[in-house]
Amino acid sequence: MKPLSLLLSVVALGLASTVSAGPAVIECWFVEDAGRGQLSKKPAALLLRQGPGSPPPRPDLEPELYLKVHDPAGALLAAFRQYPRDAPAPRCEMSHYIPLPASPDWVSGLTPEQRCPRALDGKWLMVSMSSPVLSLSSFLQPQSEPQLEPALITMATAVLTVITHTPAPRIRLGQDALLDLSFAYVPPTSKAAISLAPGPPPFGLEWRRQHLGKGHLLLAATPGLSGQVPAAREGAVAFAAWDDDEPWGPWTGNGSFWLPAVQPFQEGTYLATVHLPYLQGQVAMDLAVQKSPKVSLTPAPLVWAAPGEAPPELLCLVSHFYPSEGLEVEWELRGGPQGRFQKAEGQSWHSALSHHADGSVSLSAHLQLPPVTTEQHGARYACRVHHPSLPALGRRSEITLQVAGLSGPSLEDGVGLFLSAFLLLGLIKALGWAAAHLAASRDSTQKVTVLLPHLSLLVVSPPPTPHSRARPQAWWASQGLGIHTDLSNPATKNILHLLPWV
Ligand SMILES: *[C@@H]1O[C@H](CO)[C@@H](O)[C@H](O)[C@H]1NC(C)=O
Repeated sequence: MKPLSLLLSVVALGLASTVSAGPAVIECWFVEDAGRGQLSKKPAALLLRQGPGSPPPRPDLEPELYLKVHDPAGALLAAFRQYPRDAPAPRCEMSHYIPLPASPDWVSGLTPEQRCPRALDGKWLMVSMSSPVLSLSSFLQPQSEPQLEPALITMATAVLTVITHTPAPRIRLGQDALLDLSFAYVPPTSKAAISLAPGPPPFGLEWRRQHLGKGHLLLAATPGLSGQVPAAREGAVAFAAWDDDEPWGPWTGNGSFWLPAVQPFQEGTYLATVHLPYLQGQVAMDLAVQKSPKVSLTPAPLVWAAPGEAPPELLCLVSHFYPSEGLEVEWELRGGPQGRFQKAEGQSWHSALSHHADGSVSLSAHLQLPPVTTEQHGARYACRVHHPSLPALGRRSEITLQVAGLSGPSLEDGVGLFLSAFLLLGLIKALGWAAAHLAASRDSTQKVTVLLPHLSLLVVSPPPTPHSRARPQAWWASQGLGIHTDLSNPATKNILHLLPWV
């Protein structure tokens, strides 16, 4: 039994580690210009990791499009090792790439000689992947011939990989944005590495924003190169540096971008480009600005109405949110004791948007309820607001309907009760005094009943008992209120009872 369970747990461990290591194969499309403005698509796959044994055969793929990735810098593998299990598989496309010098003037220093180095000869593939958790582009240099190992597969080396883990940042209005960017580079062949100076090469980092067809260069940097670069705009700052200083690579670098106090006009697609001689790795991020609405409902916390009359209009103020699109206001009613929410009846409308200086907007939603009946006493009305910045349930504010004349004991009633108790105290003293006079004149029994809301006061002049011979007292107790008073005149034999009126 023991060896078996040990074996099982080893198997389970093995499974767990392969699962948590992320996908081993990325399915991809190879896209090619088929002429006359048409694109042709063929299935392709990238084998990132290979278990023991040979790569799984893929007879469905052309051998040139089944790629076993050699990633000396490890950036591609690392990105997928942390890939969340519940995240959808990335969309992946690849195409042929022809190495070209970078187009902006300010990075022309990267390619002083006009001829592309021999190390860049041969075929290149550019792979782009995007998913909700990452976006990357990678330049692969495939070997010319597929290998038979024994499945037909083509070895390909990842030379430059550019990755962001913030493909769709949602930034709170007025907060700073940090857009992640890392890159990894290994010189294409060892021959090229030897011909270069040791240490990581100079590179260019570019951050642009595209919005509504317009592009803006926000930041340019060329660490390791002399020459003028355009000034950064909108207070943008970037970390533009290699992380390591190995003589022959591979190297990884950080190009993360920081934008202070983000405003709505800064929404858009951010394009980050890492320029290396003849290779430009680019990733896109969609930055959206959000601010969640404040929700308040008036009149709060109670709305009063007489039976047969309509209560005053309910006003739900939805304030300081962004964007204005995607806002929804629902009116809900929770009636009976088991109270599920349902749609509230009545006439509803919205005000126009009002705009604030920070770019956020507000509006008010109104609901005119129909005349109420006594059964609706205690019903709760809510306005529920849905907005992209809020969780799926939205945000709500609630009030309770009071139908006049139907309120049960409440706090106000309690205060009233307390006051009547003090009035009663005076009354009892007066009664006690009167009883003493009566007792003095004739020895008879009296009974006085005083009715008050919620209470009945029973004053009894009892047959004398041995106890009452001591100190005659008045007692009452009601609704947690206990008062005990001496009657002023010891001659009386009265005992007062204050009883709850039920
Ligand atoms: C890049 O730099 C930023 C700012 O210092 C940091 O937050 C981020 O973690 C760095 N990225 C990597 C991959 O080291």
